[in-house]
Amino acid sequence: MAKVAIVTGGGSGLGQATAVRLAQQGVNISIVDVSEKGGNETVDLVKEAGADAIFIQADVSKAEEVKNYVDRTVEAFGTIDYFFNNAGISGSGGYYLDTDIKEIEQIVGINLLGALYGVRYVAEVMIKNGGGSIVNTSSSAGVIGQDSVVTYSATKHGIVGLTKSLVAEYAKDGLRVNAVAPGPTETPMVKAFYEANPKMKENATGGIPQKRLGTPEEVAELVTFLLTSNADYINGEVIRIDGGFTNTK
Ligand SMILES: NC(=O)c1ccc[n+]([C@@H]2O[C@H](COP(=O)([O-])OP(=O)(O)OC[C@H]3O[C@@H](n4cnc5c(N)ncnc54)[C@H](O)[C@@H]3O)[C@@H](O)[C@H]2O)c1
Repeated sequence: MAKVAIVTGGGSGLGQATAVRLAQQGVNISIVDVSEKGGNETVDLVKEAGADAIFIQADVSKAEEVKNYVDRTVEAFGTIDYFFNNAGISGSGGYYLDTDIKEIEQIVGINLLGALYGVRYVAEVMIKNGGGSIVNTSSSAGVIGQDSVVTYSATKHGIVGLTKSLVAEYAKDGLRVNAVAPGPTETPMVKAFYEANPKMKENATGGIPQKRLGTPEEVAELVTFLLTSNADYINGEVIRIDGGFTNTK
């Protein structure tokens, strides 16, 4: 039987690259995104790679929309084996005391509540069906402190806690939960962020020992490894993929 995955934020960047990589391994995928255009583009790419895909439009910060994407995936494909819990936004990048409350709520709502809701409903299905594998997207800013991204960093540190603590409760039920912590990676989100904050791009690349940004395909390779049975005894890990950035801070 073909495996089944849900990829949130699947319409762009890390989500899209991971969907394509999973499709190359014959995994059928629910692509979840707020963006219909991006989501449908990824559905086409998955089908070109030889797997089946559906697009489910959802705002992950709304619990009822999360429940709906989980229910619709089970209706379409019967189960959920893999979950890439990845949708997120960076915020506008200013200092914390210049950030308005609406933006703080929005970043926490999507990056942290969205991830918590996703696991809440997906893990229920996985455990009922004998187990499954989840990869949450943290960030360099989830393992070290950084200026200009205080709210974002708080949510990505939250992802680390979510990852480790779920393992304490549900590894015995067949659940594996890991996280990836990418450094700056050349996705549309990062391009937009650096266009608005050019000085930060210079600082970021200069501070990376390998002197380049990561690529979505490199992160997709790691996520695919962690999701599948190749990583069967890896649980509760947060794996940095950042050209040496956070380890040399
Ligand atoms: N690119 C990087 O450098 C980098 C580094 C570390 C962590 N991350 C994290 O990786 C994840 C993916 O980022 P990316 O760089 O691929 O960005 P991206 O902007 O290219 O893709 C993110 C996708 O998420 C979708 N999305 C945004 N808000 C949503 C919502 N409320 N509900 C559903 N979908 C929503 C967007 O429409 C988009 O398609 C994010 O969690 C981000 O924080 C990215």
